[in-house]
Amino acid sequence: MSSLFARKPLSLLFQEAESNEHGLRRHLTAWNLVLLGIGCVIGAGIFVLTGSAAANYAGPALVISFVLSAIGCAFAGLCYAEFASMIPISGSAYTYGYATMGELIAWIIGWDLILEYLFGAATVAVGWSGYVVSFLGDIGLHLPTAIAGAPFGYDHVNGWHVTGSLINFPAVFIVTLITTILILGIRESAKLNDFIVLIKVAVILLFVGFGLSYVDTANWTPFIPENTGTWGHFGWSGILTGAGVIFFAYIGFDAVSTTAQEAVNPKRDLPIGILVSLAVCTVLYIAVTLTLTGMVPYTQLNVPAPIAVAIDQTGNTLHWLGPIIKIGAIAGLTSVVLVLILGQSRVFFTMAADGLLWPTFSKVHPRYKTPYVTTLVTGGVCALMAGLFPIGILGEMVSIGTLLAFIIVCFGIILLRKREPDAPRGFRTPWVPFVPIMGMLVCFVEMVSLPIGTWTRLLGWMAIGLVIYFSYGRRHSNVQRHHRKNV
Ligand code: ALA
Repeated sequence: MSSLFARKPLSLLFQEAESNEHGLRRHLTAWNLVLLGIGCVIGAGIFVLTGSAAANYAGPALVISFVLSAIGCAFAGLCYAEFASMIPISGSAYTYGYATMGELIAWIIGWDLILEYLFGAATVAVGWSGYVVSFLGDIGLHLPTAIAGAPFGYDHVNGWHVTGSLINFPAVFIVTLITTILILGIRESAKLNDFIVLIKVAVILLFVGFGLSYVDTANWTPFIPENTGTWGHFGWSGILTGAGVIFFAYIGFDAVSTTAQEAVNPKRDLPIGILVSLAVCTVLYIAVTLTLTGMVPYTQLNVPAPIAVAIDQTGNTLHWLGPIIKIGAIAGLTSVVLVLILGQSRVFFTMAADGLLWPTFSKVHPRYKTPYVTTLVTGGVCALMAGLFPIGILGEMVSIGTLLAFIIVCFGIILLRKREPDAPRGFRTPWVPFVPIMGMLVCFVEMVSLPIGTWTRLLGWMAIGLVIYFSYGRRHSNVQRHHRKNV
């Protein structure tokens, strides 16, 4: 029983982090890491969800929801930063769990991270497809719905049904393209990400810069619309629900930590990558939300492309900005898919190196020095999911999975301070235990605000994971082997 909670010794982790035996190449600078964080964070959340969250839950006060959600993420981000500066191994939360809470919990986090990274990539690829189909439509190219939509649909009234489409081809296309680039090299992938992030940030700044002069402050009054009598529909409860919904917009800054073994100076640069990207995205989100709700009455924002609606509102004057915004959104979603698939392949890679997954998963390409087997597996499963399933059902799982990982990482910091108070770390989370406790609390409240069905699916997912652990991982893990030898 005790072996279930066998921990991976920190000394061994330090050794693995220092050695170059893993075979990956260290190319990523602090600048690359910040841009990877921004690349993963800014995506469907701000370009798609903002409108419906303002229209249905919070009105202009969605700005407060963004601030609240950012505070929750900052608590978790500070905990991630300490772990990353101390244990720069690409398994991220999975490895932190292994060092502090033992193998079973590590497995649970590793399995849970699939929801964030793999399901996240599939969700955003479906969003990418939606934007591309609409952009192509604008320029007169109409893709037949048979190849531009998921064959399976799900809604809470009718349950599962077939839609008549065959496959979401654009979603499969983008996942395949990105998987190929990720296999070709970390430097190439980071360069592409740098370029895409510059485009998307420029587009956001253009929108805010030009949009601000069209703001009508009357649209901000009342700033917090009165609650309708139902929990979550405006008023302060609406602000809270809005914070839970747009949590999705912040997901991804933690993915920076999965590149630990490819960073030039991980102990110093990973905390920079995590915290700076989170801070930049928070400022941009607040600026976009203020501009958006100032340009358009929030009641008109219940649409999939709210920023486009705000631009149309200006009449002909800002028309030229419309296609640019769409290109920015498409670019934005592309880098999110890229970093999420990158993150997933590194987590699988580390789990395989520990013996918890099949050894072939820890293979590094002899020429490109990338974990090509896990990248191919991740890309393959992601393409299949993105090609077949609708966005809603995937997206809810992403949020609950990420929140659970954040809670475990926050808890891990409290344990780490007790068990390894003096081990050297490049960054220390301030105000422990206040920060991790607040992180756990905020994430738990956001988890509770998600639909009950999401919880059931989370439990189902974990049950599948435990079956795999007990039938394979436990028998093959390096730590267990070591444990058996010493008993
Ligand atoms: N934060 C990412 C997005 O909004 C997942 O697309």
